[in-house]
Amino acid sequence: MTVQKDPIGVGIVGCGNISGAYFRGLRRFDGLRIAGCADLDQELARAAGERHGVPVFASAEELAAADGVDILVNLTPPLAHESVTRSLLGTGKHVFTEKPLTASFASAASLVAEARGKGVLFGSAPDTFLGSAGQTARAAVDDGLIGDVIGASAFVTHSKAELWHPDPTFLFTTGGGPALDMGPYYIAALVNLLGPIVSVSAMARIGSTVRPVSTPGRQVDTIDVTIPTHASATLGFANGAIGTVLMSFDVWDHELPFIELYGTEGTLSVPDPNNYDDTVRVRQHGEHAWRSLPPVIEGFTSRVDGADLPLRGPGVADLAAALTGEPFRTNADFALHVLEVLDAIANGTDGVAALTTTCDRPAPTKETWTS
Ligand SMILES: NC(=O)c1ccc[n+]([C@@H]2O[C@H](COP(=O)([O-])OP(=O)(O)OC[C@H]3O[C@@H](n4cnc5c(N)ncnc54)[C@H](O)[C@@H]3O)[C@@H](O)[C@H]2O)c1
Repeated sequence: MTVQKDPIGVGIVGCGNISGAYFRGLRRFDGLRIAGCADLDQELARAAGERHGVPVFASAEELAAADGVDILVNLTPPLAHESVTRSLLGTGKHVFTEKPLTASFASAASLVAEARGKGVLFGSAPDTFLGSAGQTARAAVDDGLIGDVIGASAFVTHSKAELWHPDPTFLFTTGGGPALDMGPYYIAALVNLLGPIVSVSAMARIGSTVRPVSTPGRQVDTIDVTIPTHASATLGFANGAIGTVLMSFDVWDHELPFIELYGTEGTLSVPDPNNYDDTVRVRQHGEHAWRSLPPVIEGFTSRVDGADLPLRGPGVADLAAALTGEPFRTNADFALHVLEVLDAIANGTDGVAALTTTCDRPAPTKETWTS
């Protein structure tokens, strides 16, 4: 992905769990420079700044006002996304937010409308569809490897957070749930592959109403579940394909795939859309085995020096490249459309719901991650 010659300054707002992946990942782009970071928890910000060699600011507002900060990246929790993004957009800087865009479609829709009038770029994760797996699957579909796509399936299942997370309460209350937490990766991947969705029909329910937490050293013993944790949906795509979707924190064990596409000529097996670079496989009708497809672009995470640490950042680079006129793939209209679908899945629908948003299918990227 090409970013303009003078490095574009990026400010990180929120120095929690995922921030390390951004500090590490953004360094992979020569055209980006991390100009600073801030967190409500100043000690956390100080530690992150020290660890990653980045200037620390006393507040998001100070960071936003600093010279050399062009893009602000919102890495706060989902329930804070709306207010933090609104205040960052108010500074006149470009903003990229982690997923979900906000914790509800209604709040996101008003935010996107507000951003549109400001003349700045507003983008959102998920950006994993920009990785080699998403782009290889996209090329397979576009090249007709499986013929016309009739249907697709996607399965979000439980990460068993009660066994390893010290306090997974956020997953079982407003802003959490399988659809808003993991669903963005799956729906963004499907929209990248098949284009926009026009209708959703969904049923959702709370599964277990109380979740015991058994993590060693846990901060809570039980969680009272306040939002649906099991949803099943049918998606109607504008291109005629029909999607079958399960999003559940009540499915602990299973033998389901991540994403599959079913075409007139074969089946495409798409790996975990939470990752950039796993293997895409195809099995054309009559073939006796699955074939791994060679990646069409370089893997974003494959050149990491040494460690297997998570990386994030292509979406921010995508926004930066859009400043120079390149296609803006992770734009907020795309994320808003994904969120409208997820909102319908998360809460269930009264019959078949026609969606009010649409988006462009993101342009494929054939570029490498070197600049
Ligand atoms: N943790 C992951 O593995 C992961 C992976 C992908 C995406 N995400 C997304 O990234 C976002 C952050 O997740 P996380 O796990 O890092 O959360 P976290 O709770 O670990 O960190 C969030 C940080 O934001 C800070 N914060 C809250 N409000 C703020 C404000 N107004 N100004 C400045 N700082 C503020 C908090 O103090 C906290 O340190 C979420 O949207 C999540 O969905 C997380």
